[in-house]
Amino acid sequence: MNKNTLTKTAKRLTASPKGILAIDESTSTCNKRFEKLGVPTTEEKRREYRELLVTAKNIEKYISGYICFDETVRQSTKDGKKFTEILKSKKIDIGIKVDEGTKNFGSVLGDKITEGLDKLSERLDEYKKMGATFAKWRAIYNIGSDTPSDECMKANAESFVKYALICQEHDIVPIVEPEVLIDGDHDIEKCYEVTAKNLDIIFSTLKSSGVFIPGIILKTSMVIAGKGAQRQSAPDEVAEFTLKCLREHVPNDIGGIVFLSGGQDDEQATLNLNAMHKKGKLPWSLTFSYGRAIQNPALNSWANNPIDVIAAQKLLVEAAKRNSLASVGKYK
Ligand code: 13P
Repeated sequence: MNKNTLTKTAKRLTASPKGILAIDESTSTCNKRFEKLGVPTTEEKRREYRELLVTAKNIEKYISGYICFDETVRQSTKDGKKFTEILKSKKIDIGIKVDEGTKNFGSVLGDKITEGLDKLSERLDEYKKMGATFAKWRAIYNIGSDTPSDECMKANAESFVKYALICQEHDIVPIVEPEVLIDGDHDIEKCYEVTAKNLDIIFSTLKSSGVFIPGIILKTSMVIAGKGAQRQSAPDEVAEFTLKCLREHVPNDIGGIVFLSGGQDDEQATLNLNAMHKKGKLPWSLTFSYGRAIQNPALNSWANNPIDVIAAQKLLVEAAKRNSLASVGKYK
């Protein structure tokens, strides 16, 4: 493990005023989004769409890294340029989703465990040769009357450790992504309680297992009321609860913290990040690693009019810019 390389990569990825763009939807998730918009669910259509995302002009002003799916890192543009080479030429770091999704965990309905440790080391050898400098592993937690259970949080933390150690042996920065789902009618206090407890479990497990904390990035959900809650959270409230939670439950020497958008409205995700950066100096870098909140306008435009790639790319870059502004508290 080269601690210097890991620290530098984590810092570069989260340095102001940029953030990470997640385009790592699995084939089935990508197909579901295509289906809703009437786009054919073929490998060629996914390639065509990802080409649009990878070749958008000037996106490198706002984006430090792209998280890709396995299919995508192997693909090329219509005229034969590898996506990985295009990203490298723009000095955008290449990330790779290495988890293989979730399955039910134990006997409590709603608990999920993430899979994907099989042959992870060999897979990372190959991704490293392709130029990957960081990876992502996502665990999900449903807020319900009995979930997430302590056993489920502990089991996912153990998997985060195994994943993070293998990544760091390869000098690849692991993004550790615990997503407390926004689905449900829970209030913001409940989300705080679950997020805080889960972060405590994760960081005590990572630290006691020898994971190098300055060489990881935490990708977390914000502390926010559930989508079905009667009282929705305002940006200032999300900022206050989220920052308190991160200050009290995440080590100060972490390589950086980024957010997923997790089904928030696009504008809401931007306003919430912006509100956090209005609250003064923070002990760590804090930025975005959005998927939907940056891609949505571009995907809708392209689905309606696939010929006009430039229009979709313009919307993509504008969304990246809005979030870049929010990452320094300057979004209006
Ligand atoms: P969303 O911003 O669409 O939640 O995607 C981010 C991500 O990487 C989820 O794993």
